[in-house]
Amino acid sequence: MGPDAYLAHIVKCKQAVGIPVIASLNGTTKGGWMRYARQMEQAGADALELNIYYIPADPDVTGEQVEQRYVDLIKAIKAEVSIPVAVKLGPYFSSMANVAKKLDAAGADGLVLFNRFYQPDYDLEALEVVPNLILSNSHELLLRLHWIAVVYGSVKADLALTGGVHSATDVVKAMMAGARIAMMTSALLKRGISYLDTMTTELLIWMGEHEYDSIKQMQGSMSRMSVPQPNAFERANYMKVLSSYAMR
Ligand SMILES: Cc1cc2nc3c(=O)[nH]c(=O)nc-3n(C[C@H](O)[C@H](O)[C@H](O)COP(=O)(O)O)c2cc1C
Repeated sequence: MGPDAYLAHIVKCKQAVGIPVIASLNGTTKGGWMRYARQMEQAGADALELNIYYIPADPDVTGEQVEQRYVDLIKAIKAEVSIPVAVKLGPYFSSMANVAKKLDAAGADGLVLFNRFYQPDYDLEALEVVPNLILSNSHELLLRLHWIAVVYGSVKADLALTGGVHSATDVVKAMMAGARIAMMTSALLKRGISYLDTMTTELLIWMGEHEYDSIKQMQGSMSRMSVPQPNAFERANYMKVLSSYAMR
C-alpha cells in the first residue's frame, strides 16, 4: 500500500469511527518520515506510531549509533507534529532499560514493546531466501512482560505491549506488568474482529471474579518495582529457572 492510499485510508477511518486513530509510520530516511508524519497528522490521525524496523547489518555501525539514530528520529518527528508520538521497538538492544529512558527523554509519548523481527527462512530446493510469517502465540508474551515490568516506573511514556496477546488473562498480565495498552494482531487475524467482544467479556468476568473494579487498579502491580522479589526479573531468575527444570 503506497503512502497516498494510506493517507486516504486514515481520512476514511476517521470518518468511520469514534475512537482515536493511530497512524503507523514505517520509513527509512529522515526526510521521508517527516513529510509523511506531517501528512498523517493533516489526514486526521490522533497519534503516530513510528515503527522503527531497522536491521543494523553493517558491522561498522555501533550500538550507540543505532540508538542515536532512534533518538534523532523521535526528536525530529516530535518537532514536526503536535499529536502524540509512540515508538515501536525491537527487543535487541544491549541495554533495553537505558534505551527506553533515552527515547523517553527524546520526547516519545509511548513505547511499544516489541516489534517481531521476521527472520527469513531458506527454501532448499530453490536455494532462495524466503519470507516466513508465523502468527504469534501466548509464549511471545513473556519477553514483553519482562521488559515492560522492568521499564515501568522509569519512563513517563505510556507503555504498550504488542506480541503474544491472545486471551483476557494475557491482557491482565500486560496491565499488571505496567502496560497501559495491550495490542492484538495475530489473535484478531485468526479469530476475526468480533473476538474483541469475547475478550472484553472475559476480561470483565476475570476482574469480577478477582474483585478488581478497574484496570487502573492492576496497572504496574506486578512490575519490577512493585513485586516483593524484584530479582525475579534479574539474573537470579536464570538460576531458578534452570534448577526448576531439574526438580520436575
Ligand atoms: C500480517 C501482519 C502484518 C503486520 N503489519 C504490520 C505493520 O504494517 N506495521 C507494524 O508496525 N506491525 C505490523 N505487524 C506486527 C503487529 O503489529 C504486531 O506487532 C505483531 O504481530 C505482534 O503482535 P501479535 O502477537 O498480536 O500478532 C504485522 C503483523 C502481521 C501478522
